[in-house]
Amino acid sequence: MSRNVAIMTPEGIARLTRSFEEVSAQPRALASSFYQELFAAAPRLRPLFPADMTSLQGHFEAALALVIRNLDELSALQDSLRELGVAHVHWGAKPEDYAVVREALIRAIRGTSSSWSDDLETDWRRAITAIAVPMLEGAAVHTAVVAEQMTEDLPGTDESS
Ligand code: HEM
Repeated sequence: MSRNVAIMTPEGIARLTRSFEEVSAQPRALASSFYQELFAAAPRLRPLFPADMTSLQGHFEAALALVIRNLDELSALQDSLRELGVAHVHWGAKPEDYAVVREALIRAIRGTSSSWSDDLETDWRRAITAIAVPMLEGAAVHTAVVAEQMTEDLPGTDESS
C-alpha cells in the first residue's frame, strides 16, 4: 500500500525543521524529558528498554532524526520503516504503545521549545504518525506471515494429505 499524497505541506516541513533544529540543540535535555514523560505515562514500558539509560539516547535521537530527515520523501522509506516495525515486535512494542510514545514525544518537544503553537503540534503529530503507520503495517504483515507458516501444521486441504 503506498501513500503518495503529501503528508506534510511545505510550510509544515519548514516549521518542523526549525523546531527540530531548536530542540536538537540540547539533545540530552530532550531525550531525558522524553523518557521521563514516557515512563510516567506508561511505567509498564520501562522493562522493554535497557537498564542503562545512557544507551536510550541513541534510540531517541535516531527516531527523531528519522522523522525529520524524511518528511518530504516518506514513501522512499516505507520498506525500512516496515522492517523497523518488525524489529519492534521483537522488542515487545505493542500497537497501542505507538500513540503513547507519540504523545510523550510531543509533550517532551513542547516542553523543550521556546515557542509552541497548535500548528506545530499538529505538524509533529502528523509526522510521527506518518512514521508509526508503516511500522505498524510491517508488524501486522509479520504476524500474518507467522500465522501463514503455522498453518502448514494444520491438516491440509489439498488431496494428498
Ligand atoms: C514512531 C515510532 C517509533 C520510532 C520511529 C522508533 C524508532 C526506534 C529506533 C530507530 C530504534 C533503534 C533501532 C536500532 O537500534 O537498530 C528503536 C529501538 C527501540 N524502540 Fe522504538 N521507535 C518507535 C516506537 C516505539 C514504541 C511504540 C515502542 C514501545 C515501547 C518502542 C520501543 C523500543 C525499544 C524497546 C527499542 C530497543 C531499545 C534497545 O534495546 O536499545 N519504540 N526505536
